[in-house]
Formats: sequence, C-alpha cells, structure tokens
Amino acid sequence: MNALIKPLFKRGITPLAYAVLLGASAPLLAADAAPAVTQPSVIPAMAALNAALLTGATFTPPDPASIPKDEFGQVVQLGRNIMFETKKYAPEYVGNSLSCVNCHTDGGAMAGSAPLWGAWVSYPAYRAKNKKVNTYEERLQGCFRFSMNGKAPPLGSEVLVALQAYSYWLARGLPVDEKVAGRGYPNVPEPALAPDFVRGKAVYEAQCAICHAANGEGRVVNGAVVFPPLWGAQSFNWGAGMGSIANAAKFIYANMPYGQSYSLTPQQAWDVAYYMDGQERPQDPRYEGSVAATRAKYHDNKNSLYGTTVNGVLLGDTGAPKSFKGNKS
Ligand code: HEC
Ligand code: HEC
Repeated sequence: MNALIKPLFKRGITPLAYAVLLGASAPLLAADAAPAVTQPSVIPAMAALNAALLTGATFTPPDPASIPKDEFGQVVQLGRNIMFETKKYAPEYVGNSLSCVNCHTDGGAMAGSAPLWGAWVSYPAYRAKNKKVNTYEERLQGCFRFSMNGKAPPLGSEVLVALQAYSYWLARGLPVDEKVAGRGYPNVPEPALAPDFVRGKAVYEAQCAICHAANGEGRVVNGAVVFPPLWGAQSFNWGAGMGSIANAAKFIYANMPYGQSYSLTPQQAWDVAYYMDGQERPQDPRYEGSVAATRAKYHDNKNSLYGTTVNGVLLGDTGAPKSFKGNKS
C-alpha cells in the first residue's frame, strides 16, 4: 500500500481522507514514489517513516485492543475517544474544529509526536508558561484552553479523569523520567538561514496546501474534519504551544507532510513553521487589553510572531477574545 495513505488507514477517518486525497491529489497517490524533496541522508526508506524514528524511543505502548472490558477500561476507552474526537466526547470544552490527535498522532501513542505516555511520567513539573509546578491534570487543562481554543475542564471532571486514565494505561511499565526517549517533538537542527515567510509560503504551496488547503482552513467532508485547519478561526489560538515557531518546526519536521516524516529539510521545516505561525488565528485568551501589552507579557521572544507585523498584518490585532460558548447543542 502507498506509504502516504497507510497511516490514514490506521485511523478512523480513513475512507473520507482517502476519498479527498483521491479527488485532490491523484498524482500524489499515483505510485509509491519518493516525494520530490531532498531527503537528509540519515533517512531510511519512505515506507518505514514515522515520527518515532530519530527519537531513540524504545518503549512500545500497549495495543488499544487490550484495553480491559471492566469499569477501569471503560474510562480508559473514553479517554482514547476524547483524543480522537474531542468535540464529540468533550463538547463543552472545545472551541475549534481540532482534535487532540491532530497534534498527538496515533491518539497520543506515537513517539516523537508528544505522546501521552511520555507526558504521564513527567509530571508534576515546573512550567515557565505559568511560573509554577503543574500537575498532569493542569497540563491537560492548558491544551484545552489554548490548543483547542476552549475552556479548561474542571479538575476532577469526567473528561480529565478519562484522559488521565488513558495516559496512565498507555504508560504502564515505563519508569518515571521526564527525559524518556520519544517524549515531546524531536529536535530539529537550527536553520542555516533565518526562517522566512516567502520561502515558507513556497514550501506550503508545494507540500502542505494539497491537504490543509491554500488558505490554511483544512478540509471538511460531510461535517467531519479530514485535514485540520492550521490557522484562522477554527485553529489553535495565540496562546498555544504550536504558535511557537520552534515547536511548530519540530512538530512539522517529524510529522508532516502526513505519512512522510523527516522528508523536509530542517530549513524547509523552519520556513514553513514561520509561514504558518505568521498567519492570523483566535486571540490569546490571556489578552491584556492591547496587542503590545499582551506581547510584552506573554510573547516577547523570537519564537512568537504575535504583535509583530508580518506580510503587512499586525498579528493579534483582532480585539478582545471572543467569549467562549462551547459546542454543547
Ligand atoms: C494544535 C496542536 C495541539 C492540539 C490540538 C493539542 N495539543 Fe497537546 N500539545 C501541543 C504542543 C505543541 C505541546 C508541547 C509539546 C512539547 O512541549 O514538546 C503539547 C503538550 C501536551 C501535553 C504535555 C506533553 C509533555 O510531554 O509534557 C499533554 C499532556 C497534552 N498536550 C495533551 C493534549 C490533549 C489532551 C489535547 C486535546 C484536548 C491536546 N493536547 C491538544 C499541541 C497540541
Ligand atoms: C497528506 C495530507 C497532509 C499533508 C500533505 C500535510 N498534512 Fe499536516 N496534517 C495532516 C493530517 C491528517 C493531520 C492530523 C493528524 C492526525 O490527526 O493524526 C495534520 C496535522 C497537522 C498539524 C497539527 C494540527 C493543526 O491543525 O494545527 C500541523 C501544524 C500540520 N499538519 C502542518 C503541516 C505542514 C506545515 C505541512 C506541509 C509541510 C503539512 N501539514 C502537510 C495531513 C497532511
């Protein structure tokens, strides 16, 4: 099977994604041919690629088919469902069209894609983001507030309990160790040239737009998100980790284009990360009343383009955050 669509088949979304891909990108699927990009020489055969390579990970999380059928297993299964279909299983806390799995591939099981097992054994931990020691539950809350542009589920709520149960189940057998191989997104070498919007746009158009669309909105088929939005109203907000160019470059290098991990050069990954993070998205929920004040307090570093002018747009200049309504029907 084509290396590109194989990972899609492992996922629930496959038939839709496959249909969209066939319609949109027949040439891409024509053969098991390597993509037209220069690959770093360390890279093995395309068919074997996934984010776990180059991370040194040795841990294999359990097969989801072995989730027990008892009361504990039902909560683990709910946690897994929330990862894959966040809006469906945690509607009152989600404010965009993303699901956790879009950035934590394989439902948080894949090394090199910020796996939940790597996270589980790493908390409580100090975080510079909020200048305190965070419990694992508090870390989960952060991804709802920023990456999902939503609302943090209360501590002890069914949603957070389920995500913790699933993370614990995935991590069984792993020693407590914040440096566990495969955690987070693997490092991408520093770029030779400073990341650049125009070069990034060229990478985007050649390698990303086919799935995520030219305007970054992604693709929705019959109400299901087949390819997630990278910017705009339905994507992560300005407070999210993916809004850091360095984080985005790491994620993209190891995970994108989907099914072709590590096929971009590091320079291409940085350039396209800059292009993606140089687009407008929902306001930072920590908004301080002005773009300048919000930049000064939360974004004053070279990895955030918030509050800077890119391609003629003062990024983040969209007023106060919209009040959160959630998706409860
Ligand atoms: C837009 C992308 C995106 C989405 C969607 C997203 N996350 Fe994350 N998440 C990140 C990034 C980026 C990090 C930071 C990774 C790092 O620091 O290496 C992260 C970190 C985490 C961590 C801590 C990982 C660690 O090793 O410390 C957990 C746990 C987590 N996310 C859970 C979730 C859950 C649960 C959801 C869905 C409710 C979710 N995330 C949705 C991008 C995302
Ligand atoms: C073959 C289709 C395809 C291509 C090409 C592709 N992606 Fe993706 N992308 C996906 C899918 C599918 C996901 C969600 C992964 C999942 O749910 O397991 C995703 C997720 C993402 C995410 C995290 C979720 C979000 O919406 O923020 C980012 C960032 C991203 N892609 C960036 C890129 C970039 C940059 C490129 C080009 C270098 C690219 N992608 C090329 C299919 C693709």
